[in-house]
Amino acid sequence: MADIAPSAGLPRHVAIIMDGNGRWAKQRLLPRTAGHAAGINVVRRVVRYCADKGVEVLTLFAFSSENWRRPADEVSVLMDLFVEALARETRQMHEQGIRLRIIGDTEAFDGRLRRRIAESEALTAGNTGMTLMVAGNYGGRRDVVRAAQRVAEAVQRGELAPADIDERLIEANLSTANMPEPDLFIRTGGERRISNFLLWQLAYTELYFTETLWPDFDESQLELAFQDFASRERRFGCTGEQIQAGSAVGR
Ligand code: FPP
Repeated sequence: MADIAPSAGLPRHVAIIMDGNGRWAKQRLLPRTAGHAAGINVVRRVVRYCADKGVEVLTLFAFSSENWRRPADEVSVLMDLFVEALARETRQMHEQGIRLRIIGDTEAFDGRLRRRIAESEALTAGNTGMTLMVAGNYGGRRDVVRAAQRVAEAVQRGELAPADIDERLIEANLSTANMPEPDLFIRTGGERRISNFLLWQLAYTELYFTETLWPDFDESQLELAFQDFASRERRFGCTGEQIQAGSAVGR
């Protein structure tokens, strides 16, 4: 992954767990799925805001590998929303120069969704603006396991010795290869957990939790998170004095 500047300004990579859709709907006596539908509107606003600000990568946790355990009708609505969102939003994202990538085990999705994903990724692949990574059927541990398997295969082929395995090699085999590490992680909805999101990648990320439920999250809330991030001192294992003196380098 790319080197990281020691001072925090605008985050290059923002990763978000969009939590609280179900509770938002329940508060309104609506079905949980109405919360997900409302959440899509916030996704659109947050994507636009981050792209306009100059964020390089935005990663959204849309569906975890554990979310299959939800009631079948909720899973089905989430899949439909995903298909519809891709159909509706891809062209506009393309016009904004956004490159879309889906990370996670997309083979588990039905053919309709897989085709949409392939089309949206292909259309936007050459764009040079913000990269929007949507994590779908994603699990952080599985991401690391897959990377370990790929590296083990290279060892088995005789291309590498076990002693050659280092952090950069693991990183290069994660689904986020060639992306900067997340600088800022945001979780809405009041829970203070990582929930098997980008486990390896979040090692040095600044964590930000807000009680706001995802459908109520907006540009002003995101700006608060950015301001909070800008006030943090990122030390990457160095002392505060080293950082102040400018002697520390990126990892
Ligand atoms: C968590 O809320 C949210 C999800 C599991 C799905 C998030 C999906 C969207 C916002 C829409 C799809 C997104 C894209 C990018 C197409 P929850 O249901 O766990 O809420 P709760 O904790 O209040 O029950």
